[in-house]
Amino acid sequence: MGTRLSSSAVAAYERDGFAFPIRVLSAAEAREVRLRLEGVERLQGGPLRGELRHKAHLVFTWLDRLVRHPVILDAVEAILGANLLCWSSSFFIKEARDPAYVSWHQDATYWGLSQPDIVTAWVAFTDATVENGAMRMVPGSHRAQVPHRDTFAPSNLLSRGQEIAVEVDEGRAVDILLRAGEMSLHHVLMFHSSPPNRSDDRRIGFAVRYIPTSVRQVAGEGDSALLVRGTDGYHHFEPEEPPARDLAPEALARHAAIMKRQAQILYRGTGIDRFK
Ligand code: NI
Repeated sequence: MGTRLSSSAVAAYERDGFAFPIRVLSAAEAREVRLRLEGVERLQGGPLRGELRHKAHLVFTWLDRLVRHPVILDAVEAILGANLLCWSSSFFIKEARDPAYVSWHQDATYWGLSQPDIVTAWVAFTDATVENGAMRMVPGSHRAQVPHRDTFAPSNLLSRGQEIAVEVDEGRAVDILLRAGEMSLHHVLMFHSSPPNRSDDRRIGFAVRYIPTSVRQVAGEGDSALLVRGTDGYHHFEPEEPPARDLAPEALARHAAIMKRQAQILYRGTGIDRFK
């Protein structure tokens, strides 16, 4: 049922560092995942905070299904090969008229992964428009790691408020416009950012990070990942398990332990020990 990424889309990804739009969910299915998320938020008494924004596919069955969606995995396989781990996922939610933004950055900077073979599938639960703060990317900027500085700026959605410390040619940036249910793919060294949401509705994106099983975590011990396609002949990551049902206590306990280890890796050297 999935569709392989066309050879021209793979060529675009290699040349530009991104490819979009790719339809994953129908408009009705996109509405359904948004409603499920908002149901969870109502239960929690507000927008997702802290650790539940990350690796939520390990505690919700409907997100486990999404990170294994055949259209996503076929597209990622066309770039990374047939043995795939889901290393992480994060919600990037900007409320209506929210000052939250994401500074120019490269994802690879603090992730501690051994090689830049990481693809992000960014799935739009709502439309992503210029007005609501769609991601922007500079084509071809994914070829080298550049220095970053940490700002810890309060409205910055990134873990350290990190930003690129060299000039970014914003005039060449492309707006990654998506309809709800579509995704973009981007390379882990892509220069990207997103401005605040100036619209009257929320902008919801779910970013899923995929790696081939050959990648290693070199910045800390005990990192883990979920095998979503093929076989893992390397065992570089502790295997993660899908949740038996939504918010199952065993899944929540495993998730809490995993987030603690991942925070130690992502925040290493800062004195911070948990997700903000
Ligand atoms: Ni990013």
